[in-house]
Amino acid sequence: MCGIVGYVGGGQAAPILLEGLHRLEYRGYDSAGLALAEGDKLQVIKAAVRVGELRERVGDGHTAPVGLAHTRWATHGEPTDINAHPHTDAGGRVAVVHNGMLENAEELREELLAAGVTPGSETDTELLAHLIAAELDGTESLEDAVRAVLRRVDGAYGIAVLDATRPTELVVARDGSPIVLGIGDGEMFVASDVAALVRHTQRVVYLDDGELATISAGDYRTSTLGANRTAKTTTTVDVTDEDYRLGDYTNYMHKEIHEQPTAVRRAVLGRLDDRFATAHLGGLQQDARELRSFRSVKLLGCGSAYYVAQLGANLIEEWARIPADAEPASEFRYRNPVIDPDALYIAVSQSGETKDTLAAVQELKRKGGRVIGVVNAPGSTIARECGSGIYLHAGPEVSVASTKAVTNMTVCFAMLGLLLGRMRDLSVARGRGIVSALDALPKAIEDVLAAEEAIAEVAERFSWAARMFFIGRVWYWPVAREGALKLKEISYVHAEAYQAAELKHGPLALIDSGMPSVVLVGDDELLAKNVATLEQIKARGGPVIAVTNAEIPADLADAVIRVPRVHPELDPIVFTIALQLFGYHIATALGREIDKPRNLAKSVTVE
Ligand code: G6P
Repeated sequence: MCGIVGYVGGGQAAPILLEGLHRLEYRGYDSAGLALAEGDKLQVIKAAVRVGELRERVGDGHTAPVGLAHTRWATHGEPTDINAHPHTDAGGRVAVVHNGMLENAEELREELLAAGVTPGSETDTELLAHLIAAELDGTESLEDAVRAVLRRVDGAYGIAVLDATRPTELVVARDGSPIVLGIGDGEMFVASDVAALVRHTQRVVYLDDGELATISAGDYRTSTLGANRTAKTTTTVDVTDEDYRLGDYTNYMHKEIHEQPTAVRRAVLGRLDDRFATAHLGGLQQDARELRSFRSVKLLGCGSAYYVAQLGANLIEEWARIPADAEPASEFRYRNPVIDPDALYIAVSQSGETKDTLAAVQELKRKGGRVIGVVNAPGSTIARECGSGIYLHAGPEVSVASTKAVTNMTVCFAMLGLLLGRMRDLSVARGRGIVSALDALPKAIEDVLAAEEAIAEVAERFSWAARMFFIGRVWYWPVAREGALKLKEISYVHAEAYQAAELKHGPLALIDSGMPSVVLVGDDELLAKNVATLEQIKARGGPVIAVTNAEIPADLADAVIRVPRVHPELDPIVFTIALQLFGYHIATALGREIDKPRNLAKSVTVE
């Protein structure tokens, strides 16, 4: 989704802005641009191109010490050169970059047309540039002009504004779309995502909704839309530029798949308690009495986070014996849900910025629901909105297809399930089994990764398929859904997940030699049922790829992916990782652009 970078300082803005845009590329975008204040004139270079191409167009020799830049994901208007940001007013004095969407754009456009101003682009952002320029005619301060315009705007925004006649400052504001200030030494940075800042500074300030900031080289001040000054605290992020380097890997998805043993070790570090066979989750503000009082649990997320939430609900229900279920946050927020005052709601998100998940949290809070976050990105909007929760500690995830965050989400739900379970009826012996399985998990993941070549070979053998089924039961049903999602998002192969028992109610009609089925066969009490599923598929001529930690009859599978055993309820994690590698190697065999799948964005900050 869209990205913002801004700089004010003693250095040259252009290379810093371009490097920042490069760091935001992973979010997905269709055009890019920057604006520099050179003399008292704006220099704007923008086009529907990748950041690398923009860099060439910008060239060297720009000495301006202030500027702003943007990667655009089209909302109002096609991805064209004209619609790319930054946008300026007719006189070329004010440049604006904007993430989000204005709801009263049509009204503002009519107003400008009536005043004789004809916007050149189809964007809502350009309207802001014209309106701010008009306000500047009557006020001394850029901040006041921006504030006056924002008070008339409905919708979501994170914006940065540059006035060519004030080349020592930028004004930024947010309402519904993140803005982070980065504090340097005699220079200040601004971005919509810390990824663009960490090369220069670890000291950041997160703006809140309804806040503006004026930033200059050595200082910043913040205030509300109502012009009241606000006091901010500086946070030190523990992410460095090193975390975003690709190293020897050819893409981030592969790198992040291989980071999973380390990511899991980080997630459980200091959180497992052998003595009481429980977990310590310091980010939960609720005391033991409150944690015991919940009578049900509802997990909300989007995409992979939703599928993992389903697995999380199973873990919590199994271990804590509290009814638990998961729902896509997008459905929840729009269906006027009844909020249960005795329920614990959990918002799950890697980025902490997904609009639909955030809206679900806001709906919950408005109705008095108790909600915690299970989030990867520290300081993100959902984490701050929830106020209490569990951080994933997966480290920054760059690949659009989520891998290590998915695994760490499951691990965090396992720890929460253990904690809630041990407050209720989960025995010490069972709790100990879970603690030692979580300790053993990184090694089991290493074993799956060590089998990569064999998995790649199976993937390549089946890369002819235009469609595939992913079949699982109970614990393996969310795994099947996540496996199918992974395959479709990076390889564009049509993949559909089904519960094994549902096959006979329709999908079996699709089984033929052109429809391989990836069947997840866990070594549990449903083994015989799953073997029967393999038979059903084989009997209809369907190729079978069995992913299993059990012994299955050799004639029932055309290929077998073997995974290690860890613990009955945690085995789905290792199956998920095998499916990540399977999807990854099909996409590689098909020559797909792994980290930037078509039409997708890492962080979906629009509705
Ligand atoms: C996008 C990504 C998915 C991700 C989903 C939720 O659709 O492409 O990979 O699972 O957003 O993202 P979140 O950051 O909330 O986990």
